[in-house]
Amino acid sequence: MKIEEIRKLIAQMTLEEKAGLLSGEDFWHTKAVERLGVPQTMVSDGPHGLRKQDLEGDHLGINDSIKAVCFPAASATAASFDPDMLEKMGEALGESCQHEKLSVLLGPAVNIKRSPLCGRNFEYFSEDPYLTGKMATALIKGIQSKNVGTSIKHFALNSQEHRRMSSSSDCDERTIREIYFPAFEMAVKEAQPWTVMCSYNRINGVFASENPWLLTDVLRKEWGFEGYVMSDWGAVSNRVEGVKAGLDLEMPASGGVNDRKVVAAVKAGKLDEKYVDLCCERILNIVYRYIENAKPDTPWDKEAQHEMAAEIAADCMVLLKNEDGILPLDKADEIAFIGEFAEKPRFQGGGSSHINCFRTTGAVEAAKGLKVTYVSGYSVAKDEATDAQIAEAVAAAKKAKAAVVFAGLPDSYESEGYDRSHMRMPECQNRLIEAVAAANPNTVVVLHNGSPVEMPWIGKVKAVLEAYLGGQSVGLATVRVLFGDVNPSGHLPETFPIKLEDNPSYLFYGGEPAGTDYREGIFVGYRYYDKKKMDVLFPFGHGLSYTTFEYSNLKLSAASIKDTDTVDVTVTVKNTGKRAGKAVVQVYVGDAEGYVNAIRPVRELKAFRKVALEPGESKEVTMTLCKRAFATWRNEIHDWWVESGEFTVEVGDSSANLPLKASIQVESTVELPRKFDVNSIFMDVMRDPKATAIMKPFIDQLMAAFSPDPSEAVSEAAGEAISEDMGAAMLNYMPLRGVLSFAAGKVSDEMMEEMLRKINE
Ligand code: BGC
Repeated sequence: MKIEEIRKLIAQMTLEEKAGLLSGEDFWHTKAVERLGVPQTMVSDGPHGLRKQDLEGDHLGINDSIKAVCFPAASATAASFDPDMLEKMGEALGESCQHEKLSVLLGPAVNIKRSPLCGRNFEYFSEDPYLTGKMATALIKGIQSKNVGTSIKHFALNSQEHRRMSSSSDCDERTIREIYFPAFEMAVKEAQPWTVMCSYNRINGVFASENPWLLTDVLRKEWGFEGYVMSDWGAVSNRVEGVKAGLDLEMPASGGVNDRKVVAAVKAGKLDEKYVDLCCERILNIVYRYIENAKPDTPWDKEAQHEMAAEIAADCMVLLKNEDGILPLDKADEIAFIGEFAEKPRFQGGGSSHINCFRTTGAVEAAKGLKVTYVSGYSVAKDEATDAQIAEAVAAAKKAKAAVVFAGLPDSYESEGYDRSHMRMPECQNRLIEAVAAANPNTVVVLHNGSPVEMPWIGKVKAVLEAYLGGQSVGLATVRVLFGDVNPSGHLPETFPIKLEDNPSYLFYGGEPAGTDYREGIFVGYRYYDKKKMDVLFPFGHGLSYTTFEYSNLKLSAASIKDTDTVDVTVTVKNTGKRAGKAVVQVYVGDAEGYVNAIRPVRELKAFRKVALEPGESKEVTMTLCKRAFATWRNEIHDWWVESGEFTVEVGDSSANLPLKASIQVESTVELPRKFDVNSIFMDVMRDPKATAIMKPFIDQLMAAFSPDPSEAVSEAAGEAISEDMGAAMLNYMPLRGVLSFAAGKVSDEMMEEMLRKINE
């Protein structure tokens, strides 16, 4: 429906009808206005499958939903580093939504994995904003290509579950812009999600649901968002403030309470009715976009999607360690599968994203026909491994050529609604792994978890395969990877620190009582570990393969560019092994010499590409970098800014393995506003050529004041005390007013004022 028609429709509505439209009919539906023929639409969780509830609704995954397909969760799909694949997964989800008459799928969830402790990390993509943005954008494009909306969530700074409905995320703007916003920004600019879901938390004290800066200034005015904003379920505190701020739809229903408050506020002159109209307009625009493109006869082939989910899951798995090339296993060998997760894998997380799967395939079932024996090893429900279970596991391991222990985090350890309190796996599983590894030198660990875990046994096992939460077909994928039908190609979308205490947010995460300070700032994940030169268990971007790749011939299309230009990064990658495989070429940018922007990470991911290669094959890959690859957020201009100078471009297959390096000069076309005064120091003033020229006479005066008078004998001790470095530092850090003190009499206040006027002109 054209916007003019929507406006005409709104003009015919009573204030009560309009206010009614601004909240849900129930848990999952928007309201209809039958008198005017305005239809109802349904939304549903999300993000990696459909949680459509027919009967009792809830936002915690408690009541049943329809039988559906659970694809791998975002923690896993991010590891694929393959946006094209995610777009296809989105298309499948979009078709399922059309089949089920769903107007919006509630996802993707793009909050940054700030700490391994966040209970919802399994639903989030990465610690890196660029990777998160790319993956989210692809998923949105895929779903929306089927004329079904998405709801990118949770906007914003919702990186913990602790006190999730009241906590304030207190963060400086640079960090918000560089770390916590980019995924939302990229998705809005490149894929226009139909809706955005605001988060529960406050941001610097103001609830996201009533935050005009967030919902209007940034989201709409800066980024050009055209859809509607809905609240997370129950995230509304002050509905009237929310309407003014740009929160269009309150979810779920407020039982009419908040609708009446909106009506009363308009009648009392406290809320301009135009805000109410605007919310209605944005909601109806999306309602009709879906209604006019609804295709309920779209088929939903769940069997085909089960297989698709397996293929995706296999491409997400990260081979963390593979000593002596123990993997892939040989199908002719006797193999022991140990651990309950082999039979009943943990493949999705608890809470609102929980899918009622039409089928699940565990590894034991998937390995039928192979020489695989299975023993339970531990009990998930009891969180224990009895002596008998361990003894049975040891016996099975001794008999087999290799033992594969399926381990990870049970639901109770990691879920929506609360955070983890430590980074350890269940003690019983650690004990089991140690015992099995002692019994069989060829021990492999498969992990099911949504976030990093400590691995005290890492030196004792030969291989570790990180499967994350790989969806309902994860068993198929695991067996295909373990036995070499699929060559693993996932790479870590986050750093695995050695221990929790190493994580940069460790001292501040959680926060009591009112909120959490994001004091580590921009140094999240590898941005911190790299800067601190810290050892980690596995670095960001790491992932092994059954083949080997060689990177060569790094070329930049220009040696120097302006910040308005782009530069192409070209590199050759060759499969030097004996199997077909997929490489993930990663491009990191670092500022080699920042002065104004001195506080920066060593390197940041700014481009990547997944490349499939046959044995011996090589391909040339080209990726493009633009201004944002070099820029930082500057509050003084309220914009992105590149500091002129040299930048490094590093290429390789993980943040810690970057064999290729080039450099490029980038020249800024934007000058930061600057104003010098008597307290500006010489070092800063002298970086400005114009200011330096004007300052010259003063600098000479000062130099003279500091140079020892040759007529006076300088004691040996004094000569040693004032080294050249010290002299330079003294001058560098000297405020301009120093001229008045140290070259007294030679410079007057008036002269200083006149000089500053000229410099600042
Ligand atoms: C979650 C959202 C979810 C909503 C509806 C909330 O508790 O935070 O991610 O979409 O419930 O189930």
